[in-house]
Amino acid sequence: MLEKNKAIRMVDELRRQLISNDIPLNVIDYGAGHPNDIRSQQQMSKGVEVVSSTKCYAAYGVKGADAEFLFSAILKAKPCTVLELGTCCGFSSILMSKAMPKSSIYTLEGSPELVQIAQEMHHKAGCGNIQIHTGRFVDILPGLLPSIRPVDFAFIDGHHDRDATVQYFEMILPYMSYGGVMAFDDITWSDGMKEAWAAICSHPVARYADDNGKIGLIRVGECR
Ligand SMILES: C[S@@+](CC[C@H](N)C(=O)[O-])C[C@H]1O[C@@H](n2cnc3c(N)ncnc32)[C@H](O)[C@@H]1O
Repeated sequence: MLEKNKAIRMVDELRRQLISNDIPLNVIDYGAGHPNDIRSQQQMSKGVEVVSSTKCYAAYGVKGADAEFLFSAILKAKPCTVLELGTCCGFSSILMSKAMPKSSIYTLEGSPELVQIAQEMHHKAGCGNIQIHTGRFVDILPGLLPSIRPVDFAFIDGHHDRDATVQYFEMILPYMSYGGVMAFDDITWSDGMKEAWAAICSHPVARYADDNGKIGLIRVGECR
């Protein structure tokens, strides 16, 4: 296990390199875009073509206090199997890999262009325990979940739409281990995400565990 600050510094350095080596990047985004974007269900399902750059995408992802929070949460949970929705450039999966080098980490990303970047980042970071699955979450999860169960730690960090977030929670929940932890990024990103987080916390098997105002954690328990 790499010590928390060293792991965060390593990711910061990889991010810096990607930002300074800025190249154009076109991605198909199946997510909700920005908090003020109004994307229809049809647009999110079909994907929206975004003309961007590595600099822009490298700026996404957990960093600073949020990276510390995620790192500490996964260390505490000691998962064997980790599932992440939203690989992007691979930074959060590197952090989780450095915290739990013996775990199996499965991370999902819709954009093949970003998957290529994430693979490069994983290689540079020397992470051998991360498997990336390319495609829409809704398409990958039904086949993947039965083959990796039980999931001990799930990090949901993509498609910040209220209904989609609740849907992913409900899809993953039956495959979680008892006492497993689910982490949701951007719980206050939009009104929709606030509603999704409230709905998840009030689910009969969810036990609110912690949050830092941005990432929320629940523990999977028995029906109340
Ligand atoms: C916020 S970024 C993830 C950041 C990453 N977890 C980190 O901290 O380094 C969200 C990613 O999810 C992907 N994504 C969003 N909605 C998706 C969907 N429905 N299916 C597949 N990928 C999706 C986007 O392409 C984007 O790269």
